[in-house]
Amino acid sequence: MYSPFLFVFLPFAYGQLHTAAKNAGLLFFGTATDNPELTDSAYLAKLSDSTQFGQITPGNSMKWDAIEPGPGNFTFAAGDVIANLAKKNNQLIRCHNLVWHQQLPSWVTSTAWTPATLTAALQLHVTTEVTHYKGQCYSWDVVNEALNDNGTFRNDIFFSTLGEDYIKIAFDAAAAADPDAKLYYNDFNTEFPGAKSTAALNIVKALKAAGTKIDGVGFQSHFLVGSTPSIATQMKNMGTFTALGVEVAVTELDIRMPLPPTQANVAQQQTDYQTVTAGCLTLKGCIGVTVWDFDDAFSWVPSTFPGTGSACILDDNLNEKPAYFGALAGLTGTGPQPPQNGTNGTYSFGNNVTTATAKPTKATFVGEASGLVSNLIWPVMMVVVLAVL
Ligand code: XIL
Repeated sequence: MYSPFLFVFLPFAYGQLHTAAKNAGLLFFGTATDNPELTDSAYLAKLSDSTQFGQITPGNSMKWDAIEPGPGNFTFAAGDVIANLAKKNNQLIRCHNLVWHQQLPSWVTSTAWTPATLTAALQLHVTTEVTHYKGQCYSWDVVNEALNDNGTFRNDIFFSTLGEDYIKIAFDAAAAADPDAKLYYNDFNTEFPGAKSTAALNIVKALKAAGTKIDGVGFQSHFLVGSTPSIATQMKNMGTFTALGVEVAVTELDIRMPLPPTQANVAQQQTDYQTVTAGCLTLKGCIGVTVWDFDDAFSWVPSTFPGTGSACILDDNLNEKPAYFGALAGLTGTGPQPPQNGTNGTYSFGNNVTTATAKPTKATFVGEASGLVSNLIWPVMMVVVLAVL
């Protein structure tokens, strides 16, 4: 007679990523997904668990080539699938993205634009897409990856035709179309202080000086194992952005390693995931962490960074890796975790992992107290219910 109660209460005692993130004061823990993956029912079930993922980001289906494959020809069907799924699951969406140098249809890259004709095409694209999804997007990545690593502007079709004005044009159009969506600048290799991070900061400053609405900056965070920023570095780097009055988010987290995985790298990856989530938790103004898909089977990493992989928090078979427990530990500081050396005695590089019970050793972070209470309340209630019965 006790088993139904155990069934009900155990998931709460166990600890889930989004629940832990919320308890700690973040807005979400989320994940990217992509339309072809949704035919995998086991994957879809995990994705739809809003205690794990309180936010989803379409990996491809809201990009320019998907939305406006021909001039003025808008196709929202695939993007709508993700938006509707999020609605059904009671998940936020980070809508991604409006202006980017990649995944542009050839009519955008090959037309002989004048500043006036490209401005009109850009405004039509942004206005039409943002209007279509009005009220559905927590945020929009309005401009993605405008910068080179040395901090200069990337010389894509937008910059070469319009100079940096294209950024303001895109943000202004997005703000007019959906005043309630948070508007983000999103980039990679901005996660450490340096020329590129400073240049991103200058984009925020320039937009604000021009009276243009910008609400947030996304730090993609496609990391190599052992090369993630420390909590102190995250505070320093992202803190320069929050000091300007914008929110920040980790928007595309994955942590790849050379294949095959070694025990040392698996352990390091666990620590790295923990450091990233703990960093966001520690910094006031960091609102959430999104992984760039949660399952190694659907990661973009192996095809993009050949020789590397195993970058996600779940393995090919949807089993939680030490990285999962690292991410969770960064959000809670409590609950089931593998020992801090990263080997929980059962994980065998891509196969089943079972939950170990070592206590966390990390320092106390902002929000941890509330996480502690909510993680303890369910086991305590369970004991009380069982005692009464
Ligand atoms: C990636 C997708 O995950 C891949 O499926 C696609 O082939 C290429 O784009 N930065 C971004 C994301 O902002 O849109 C990219 O997504 C990964 C890098």
